[in-house]
Amino acid sequence: MKAIAIEQFGGRDFLKVMELPVPPPGEKEIRIKIKAAGVNYVDVKIRKGLLKERLPCEFPLIPGWDAAGVVDETGPGATRFKKDDAVYAYCRKPVIKDGCYAEYVVVSEEVAAMKPSNMSFDEAGAVPLAGLTAYQSLFEAAQLKGGETILIHAAAGGVGSFAVQLAHDAGAHVIGSSGAANHEYIKSLGAHAAIDYTIRDFRQTVQAMYPDGVDVVFDCVGGDTLTRSVDVLAKKGRLVSILDATVIKQLQENGVRAHYVFVSPNGSQLDHLRQKIEEGSLSTHLAAVLPLTEAARAHEMIETRHTVGKIVLSVGA
Ligand SMILES: NC(=O)c1ccc[n+]([C@@H]2O[C@H](COP(=O)([O-])OP(=O)(O)OC[C@H]3O[C@@H](n4cnc5c(N)ncnc54)[C@H](OP(=O)(O)O)[C@@H]3O)[C@@H](O)[C@H]2O)c1
Repeated sequence: MKAIAIEQFGGRDFLKVMELPVPPPGEKEIRIKIKAAGVNYVDVKIRKGLLKERLPCEFPLIPGWDAAGVVDETGPGATRFKKDDAVYAYCRKPVIKDGCYAEYVVVSEEVAAMKPSNMSFDEAGAVPLAGLTAYQSLFEAAQLKGGETILIHAAAGGVGSFAVQLAHDAGAHVIGSSGAANHEYIKSLGAHAAIDYTIRDFRQTVQAMYPDGVDVVFDCVGGDTLTRSVDVLAKKGRLVSILDATVIKQLQENGVRAHYVFVSPNGSQLDHLRQKIEEGSLSTHLAAVLPLTEAARAHEMIETRHTVGKIVLSVGA
């Protein structure tokens, strides 16, 4: 099969088109013929070797953890899907090797769900990792409830765009941070207020608008944005970050209700997101759809840190 893979960690030019074996599905696994592979910033971190201490990696390494496509073959004991079912899945595995920048990927049937019927394969390929991250952060870690106020940093990004919609749908009052150019976009997703983090410290803006603080901060930026977020939390407020587990641990030790989330594959939550999408309360904005062979260009785009919505690689016909 055709795949984009790396044989060592490094720059974008290490992403090469390779001919690799089609993987066979094992016990309770399905093989997906991929039509679209979502691009996430973590793919850049994997390519550079930044996560190699945390996640075992083997070469040749095919990056990419998001797939939408059709079931091509089912392994022994796999019963949830049948051949030709249109599915989507967050495909991270314990060893980072056989990812989704490829014509085929094999995954446990437990991590897949039927593709939303009202989405194209390209749109569906953009959902799993970022959608599950938003879902697990808001509803498992933060336990967000209707009527609460939530500040979402990087509301226009891949994860933030889903978080704004999910929080709005849950009845929360949503404040999104982005550059001014993206304020209309995040309001169109359901944010009640948008703040421009580029013109002044976001704490000043939030404290002026919500003197008692916000119930939840969802941090998709890290660094100063994460540490400063403590200052805008209401009494008993919760802080969730997807960026820095060490800082979160320190905050917990100082009595802050802080949580770090590292997104887990989860087919039933993906099916819940499918329902939201089919009901019309969740959608995705595609910043770019590129052919698989332009994975390096996709990485160049996502490395700007200013993507609006998602980037997807279209695979095959
Ligand atoms: N732990 C996990 O499980 C997990 C899961 C998913 C993602 N992540 C990580 O979370 C981060 C975000 O992921 P993503 O997919 O959402 O990235 P992304 O789509 O590349 O995020 C881009 C967005 O970030 C915004 N942005 C940049 N700097 C900002 C700032 N200081 N304040 C507010 N917004 C800012 C940009 O808005 P403007 O253009 O308006 O500035 C842009 O829309 C990445 O580092 C990713 O690796 C972790």
